[in-house]
Amino acid sequence: MNFRNDPAFLKEYQYKTEGNLNARIRLHTLFSTNPLGWANFVKGILGKIPASSLLEVGCGSAHAWQATQPSDFSHKKIFLTDFSFGMARSASHSLHEHKVFHFANLDAQFLPFKDQSFDIVIANHMLYHVPDIDLALTEIHRVLSPNGSLVAATNGAKHLIELTNFVRQAAPDLEETGSISSKFSLENGASYLERHFGQVTCHLYPDSLDISEVGPLLDYILSMWGGFITESQRKTLKDGLDQRFARDKHITVQKSTGLFVSKKESSRS
Ligand SMILES: C[S@@+](CC[C@H](N)C(=O)[O-])C[C@H]1O[C@@H](n2cnc3c(N)ncnc32)[C@H](O)[C@@H]1O
Repeated sequence: MNFRNDPAFLKEYQYKTEGNLNARIRLHTLFSTNPLGWANFVKGILGKIPASSLLEVGCGSAHAWQATQPSDFSHKKIFLTDFSFGMARSASHSLHEHKVFHFANLDAQFLPFKDQSFDIVIANHMLYHVPDIDLALTEIHRVLSPNGSLVAATNGAKHLIELTNFVRQAAPDLEETGSISSKFSLENGASYLERHFGQVTCHLYPDSLDISEVGPLLDYILSMWGGFITESQRKTLKDGLDQRFARDKHITVQKSTGLFVSKKESSRS
């Protein structure tokens, strides 16, 4: 099993419901040090791109949209989509009252929309899961209007590296501890995007975690690796974290995250 890009595993286990993703969002919400907040950072970038129609692929539980007021939407049509039925359903449950939103259960590699249907496509923290990234980017480019933009967030190689190290210490034989975003990361994402888009700009979001409670940290780690470690490794992990908090009271964790804005050139079809 591979939790990066095995579609069956992602749909049927990791993202079957919003539970795992929510555990991770909770850790970021409680302990992030940048007061701006990721959702406001993304909103600031989106606000600079003139658009009336927007498609999000791999929207998850649409957490960022839930923190937005209806009056903040300048877009007339917003499609929120995910290839996990549970995620698409979770997004629609929380936002269906706002008529601007439409929801669909679909794979970013096969978009059932006409050419040039959207001014913006968002693909945040999801392209590293997609088996054929070039196929998804070809589809996204096709459905973007002339001069439309793709906003694609991802992480860098050192993102939350301390958490990965906790897991490696408790479960040294575990194979699944590489960076989740390595397939499409801050380091290599531009090389994919430049094959499809004329202009690619990277915006980094400086942030870190200052964690003062073991519970949300353990929940985060188990949301990623819980299915891969044994009961005794889980106990080793918890004991190690308890000892670390008893000694230091806080754990600082580095983040490396940001997004690419890629503009379609109107002359390219
Ligand atoms: C890390 S979550 C990110 C969710 C949301 N974009 C966010 O930033 O909070 C990745 C999401 O991408 C979805 N996903 C993975 N592969 C996909 C694909 N090929 N097409 C559409 N969605 C996909 C997963 O179901 C999951 O909801």
